[in-house]
Amino acid sequence: MKRKRCLLILSFLFIISCVGSLKNDSDTLAGEEESIKKYAQAKGIYVGTAVRYTPLFHPAETNYKKLLTKEFNIIVAEDDMKFENLQTSENNFFFNYADRITAFAKSNGMKVRGHTLLWHNQSGFAANITDPTQASNVLSNHIFTVMRRYSNVVEYWDVVNEAIGSDTNLIGYPNSLRKSFWWTNLGEAYVEYAFQLARAAVPNAKLFYNEYGNEGVSRYKFRETINLVSNLKAKGLIDGLGLQMHLSTDRNYPFDDNFFLALEEYAKLGVEIHITELDIAIRLTNTNGIALTPEELEIEYEKQAQMYALTFATCLSNTNVKAILMWGFTDKYSWIPQYRINYGDALIFDKNYNKKKAYKAILEILKK
Ligand code: G3I
Repeated sequence: MKRKRCLLILSFLFIISCVGSLKNDSDTLAGEEESIKKYAQAKGIYVGTAVRYTPLFHPAETNYKKLLTKEFNIIVAEDDMKFENLQTSENNFFFNYADRITAFAKSNGMKVRGHTLLWHNQSGFAANITDPTQASNVLSNHIFTVMRRYSNVVEYWDVVNEAIGSDTNLIGYPNSLRKSFWWTNLGEAYVEYAFQLARAAVPNAKLFYNEYGNEGVSRYKFRETINLVSNLKAKGLIDGLGLQMHLSTDRNYPFDDNFFLALEEYAKLGVEIHITELDIAIRLTNTNGIALTPEELEIEYEKQAQMYALTFATCLSNTNVKAILMWGFTDKYSWIPQYRINYGDALIFDKNYNKKKAYKAILEILKK
């Protein structure tokens, strides 16, 4: 325990030294324009973002595509490759958007994460199925059809997303699984079944489990993620773990809950780790519901920058972390204002595609 504590302290000091010395560094990669991608590639890590079809291909949104190709080397479709948007009714598929997004990635040398094959949200008609045989056939048809269509471009798949339930009394796998309509129809083996289908569909695809709220060691979902991944790993069904990391500046989570140690423990499972949906939201109103002043906002942007830097520095200290994706890159297109009232400005470019402090903080860490 003493050794682990020393290791933890030394590692944290290393991370702080990276973050603490966020200063303008003159040495850039010789002869290349500065970008996150350039420094990420030099570090052997993929850094990217979730993308939306409409701004990506809208003729008026030239900045969106320009920054995407300049800054990032991995992407994921925020919504366009979810169940409801690919299989719009039973055995009727709509591939136009996903085809264009994956073709764009391929033509720009970007890796692609597929999100997501089985989830309790955005599942369209499947959420209304009550016949187990139909549910099994629909899921199998979806996974085989989608994975095989994109087998030459989608390297990583979130096979299952957010399957650990919220009832913290249910300990252990599969007890702790979310009792969604997939569980009702397919029973407690539904997660394993989805991974079996995915492994059979495209054997060389990298199969991930993706989850939120499991980035700190004291969390219920941390222990249950280890149980779930360990069981799938023992059966050769899983290759990677996705940690979503939806954070906010008004909490120090997961840094106040040993995020560094959590990465260490996940790495022991023998799976690749991706940060899959990083964003760091700012509460835009004070406790009286009044909008923050420009001075108050600047303080939040500085805190946000430090948290992005600490996330990247911590991830770079663990060789099992192979990719960091943000859940969007410009505040113009973020899920947060719609879902988290009074929160926003979570990303690294502002609504006008200007670099924020957070962008510069990430670049400084990647340059180290
Ligand atoms: O496409 C329709 C459009 O035709 C319609 O006019 C419009 C009306 O509101 O809705 C559009 O669909 C929206 C969809 O995003 C595409 O923009 C849905 O209403 C909206 O609910 C959906 O929100 C997505 C959310 O997941 C759904 O739970 C967010 O964009 C997306 O960022 C968010 O992403 C999830 C990850 O997949 C899993 N982890 C959590 C993360 C945040 O919730």
